[in-house]
Amino acid sequence: MNSPSQISVLQTAWQWWTYAAAYEGYFAATRRLVGVLWEFVRDSTPERLRQRYGDADYDWDYRVNTTSGAVGWRDRLLGMFHSAYQPTEPAAFHEMLDALQQTPNLDRTTLKFRDFTFVDLGSGKGRTLLMASDYPFRRILGVELLPSLHQIAQQNLRQYKSESQKCFALEAICADATAFPFPEDPLVIYLFNPFPESGMRRVFVNLEQTLRAHPRPVYVLYHNPLLEYVLSESARLRKIAGTRQYSLFGSQR
Ligand SMILES: C[S@@+](CC[C@H](N)C(=O)[O-])C[C@H]1O[C@@H](n2cnc3c(N)ncnc32)[C@H](O)[C@@H]1O
Repeated sequence: MNSPSQISVLQTAWQWWTYAAAYEGYFAATRRLVGVLWEFVRDSTPERLRQRYGDADYDWDYRVNTTSGAVGWRDRLLGMFHSAYQPTEPAAFHEMLDALQQTPNLDRTTLKFRDFTFVDLGSGKGRTLLMASDYPFRRILGVELLPSLHQIAQQNLRQYKSESQKCFALEAICADATAFPFPEDPLVIYLFNPFPESGMRRVFVNLEQTLRAHPRPVYVLYHNPLLEYVLSESARLRKIAGTRQYSLFGSQR
């Protein structure tokens, strides 16, 4: 696996094409690669750029930089091969956390955030880490692949000030989240479509292993759950709640 400081656009595109070609054949993979590059060009028009700046209200309110408008061309191109950076909308985030809080435990008490570590896999510029700090989590961790987004996340963690902040143990890590060793705490894992199917499968194999070794409560909040079937296949997770916007899974006891 590459260390994040070595990520190059050409190498990433080559790995992407090789993987696609193994499944679909050279011709189909090349055609899809041209499609990805064309989408990148379309995404670079001034109109699309203006749209991406449209989500800057959160940044104005908290004097941070989490909008996708200010992401440079290199990271946007890398994003076409991994997943494009897009921050979670605050209203959607709080709706998901409210749903999580209302999830009854076995003893019918509601979930206590202070027992849990919040982990965002693919944390980008760290907006969800800041928003999660409004809840009294034990600690909050974000894992981001792209070094430049990770550096901005670190800066945001330093700059963020909010009177509603309840958790102050925040950390951003620059690494491949599909190989991330999960902390041995009770976990709330947050995913906003960070990986293709192969990456999702790696994450849930890791999660099953750690749950087998260290059984503990784990919840998975999956925003825009395009690959929900990957979670549904896990013997250790069951779906607890969801809408078209998100799915909430919990570990089986
Ligand atoms: C849709 S964005 C979500 C950002 C953030 N979680 C949020 O909700 O505001 C997905 C992020 O996952 C990152 N990503 C993609 N593949 C990754 C990997 N293997 N490891 C860590 N981060 C990854 C992308 O660079 C991007 O920043």
